[in-house]
Amino acid sequence: MSNIKNDLFLRALKGETVERPPVWMMRQAGRYLPEFIAIRDKYDFFTRCRTPELASEITVQPIRRFGMDAAILFSDILVIPQAMNIEVEMKEGVGPWLPNPIRSQKDVDTVVVPDVTIELKYVMDAIKVTKQMLNDDIPLIGFAGSPWTILCYCVQGQGSKNFDKAKEFCFTQPIAAHTLLQKITDTTIAYLKEKVKAGVNAVQVFDSWGGMLSPADYQEFSWKYINQIIEALKDDAPVIAFGKGCWFALEEMANSNAAALGVDWTVSPQVARKLTGNKITLQGNFDPVRLLSPPKVIKTMVHQMINDFGKDKYVVNLGHGILPHVPLENAKAFIDAVKEYKS
Ligand code: CP3
Repeated sequence: MSNIKNDLFLRALKGETVERPPVWMMRQAGRYLPEFIAIRDKYDFFTRCRTPELASEITVQPIRRFGMDAAILFSDILVIPQAMNIEVEMKEGVGPWLPNPIRSQKDVDTVVVPDVTIELKYVMDAIKVTKQMLNDDIPLIGFAGSPWTILCYCVQGQGSKNFDKAKEFCFTQPIAAHTLLQKITDTTIAYLKEKVKAGVNAVQVFDSWGGMLSPADYQEFSWKYINQIIEALKDDAPVIAFGKGCWFALEEMANSNAAALGVDWTVSPQVARKLTGNKITLQGNFDPVRLLSPPKVIKTMVHQMINDFGKDKYVVNLGHGILPHVPLENAKAFIDAVKEYKS
C-alpha cells in the first residue's frame, strides 16, 4: 500500500477505476518555466543534475506552479553513459555532445558497467531530498533512457535527424553493438533498482529514438533490451515504457509486464487501444506543438483525448517533451483541463 496522498497516478498504473485520469508532462521541468531559466543561468547543466539541492528544486518547480499528479526527477538519460566512462557534454546550441563516440569493438571494451551506488550516488541523494520536499503529496517518477536510445548518442556523438551512424554501427558490427547494448542494460537495471530503493514510486524508460528502426530491427536492437529492464524491475516498481514512433510494436509491448505504455500523437487513441487490446494502461499522447493552440482549444482537445482513451487505464501526458516556447497559461490549461474533467 502506498502512503502517497494523491495516488491517482499509481492507481491508474494498476488499472484501477479513478475519478479522473492523472496528468503530468514529459520534460515538465524545463525551459518554458522562468524559475527554471533563473537557475539555468547560474549553473551549467550537469552541475544542476549533480547538486541534489538544485535537482530537487527544479523537480518541484512545475508542481508548485501547476499541481501535476506526479513529479519526475530532474536529471538526464545521459548520466548513464557518463557513469560508464563515456565523456558527455551539454553544448549550448548543440545539445548533447560526446567528443569520443563509440565506433568499434575496441571502443566498446573501454566502456564499463559501473557501481551505480558510487558513480550515480548524486542521483540517489537528489531523490531523497526531493522525496522530503514532496512530503508524500504526489508520487515521484524516476527514469532512464532505453539502451537503444543511449546507444544512439554514444555512437552518433550528438543528436541527429536519423541516427544513421548509430544504425550503421548496429548493422555492420552487430556483435559490438549487442555487447554495448547489454552493458547499458545491466547498468540501467542496477541504476533503476537503486532509484526505487532511494524512493521513486515508478520508473519510465524513454525510448525516444525507437521509431528510427524498422519493426524487425526494433525487436533486435531495442525492445529485447527494454523487456529485460521491465522483467528485472517489475517486482520493484511499476514500469512505463515510452517508445516514440513505436506504435508498430504496441501489440507486442502490451504482452509485456510493463505497467503502462507511453504513446506519441502519430497514433490515435482508438488505434492504440485496439492494438493493446485494452489490457494495459496507456499514457500520452497530446502533440506538444498543440500546446501553442489557444487555451480554450487546448481544453476542448484534452477532454476529447480523455474521452477517446477512456478515463480508466489512462495517464494524460504529451506525446513527447514540452517545448521551450510554450506559454505558461497554455501549460496551465492542459493541466487544468484534466482536473476539470467530468465523465
Ligand atoms: O521530464 C523532466 O522534466 C525531467 C527531466 C529530463 C531532462 N531530460 C532534462 C533536460 C528528462 C526526463 C530528460 C530525458 C532525456 N534527455 C531524453 C528522453 C526524453 C526525450 O525528450 O526524448 C533525451 C533524448 C535526452 C537527451 C537530451 N538532454 C537532449 C536531447 C537535450 C536537449 C538539448 C537542447 O539543448 O535542446 C538534453 C538537455 C536537457 N535535459 C534539458 C533539460 C531540461 C535542456 C537543457 C538545459 O536545461 O540546459
